[in-house]
Amino acid sequence: MKKQVNFTLNGKKVTALVSSSDTLLEVLRNQFHLYGARESCALGLCGVCTLIVSGNPVSGCLYLAPMVDGEEVLTVEGLESEGELHPVQQAFYEKNAFQCGYCTSGMILMAKKLLDENPNPSEEEIKDYMAGNICRCASYKQIIEAINEASKILDTGTNGVKAAYQ
Ligand code: FES
Ligand code: FES
Repeated sequence: MKKQVNFTLNGKKVTALVSSSDTLLEVLRNQFHLYGARESCALGLCGVCTLIVSGNPVSGCLYLAPMVDGEEVLTVEGLESEGELHPVQQAFYEKNAFQCGYCTSGMILMAKKLLDENPNPSEEEIKDYMAGNICRCASYKQIIEAINEASKILDTGTNGVKAAYQ
């Protein structure tokens, strides 16, 4: 039997019919055609499926869809604003912080959350915070550079993005 859930998805109120075993990741991909978050381990171990639910990073592969009722969901698709990339997205692009891109959605959302909490993290703090997000292409050096770059962009307001994203 399916249950109706009402939640906010990237700033818009939405409704979905979900079964008790559906994951949030499946619902986003199958009902809302948001393919940024992907499944890899399906065990909560790799961070590829990371989503932000009401301000908290969650593993979309384990988060059961009925639990999303009343929550606010942010996916990587919800980060850009009026056609402009979020500074973290822009920095990943500029620093070539990906190869295959499979991990990138989760990396970007986790990096955004890190910078929300700690706008100027040290390299050790970045490594510690991002430890649950695995990149099989081993682009870690570029990912750390991108997070540092995003931190600078947000700090200096380059391209006027500071006002838009704070
Ligand atoms: S696919 Fe969800 S943590 Fe790996
Ligand atoms: S860029 Fe390929 S897994 Fe990270």
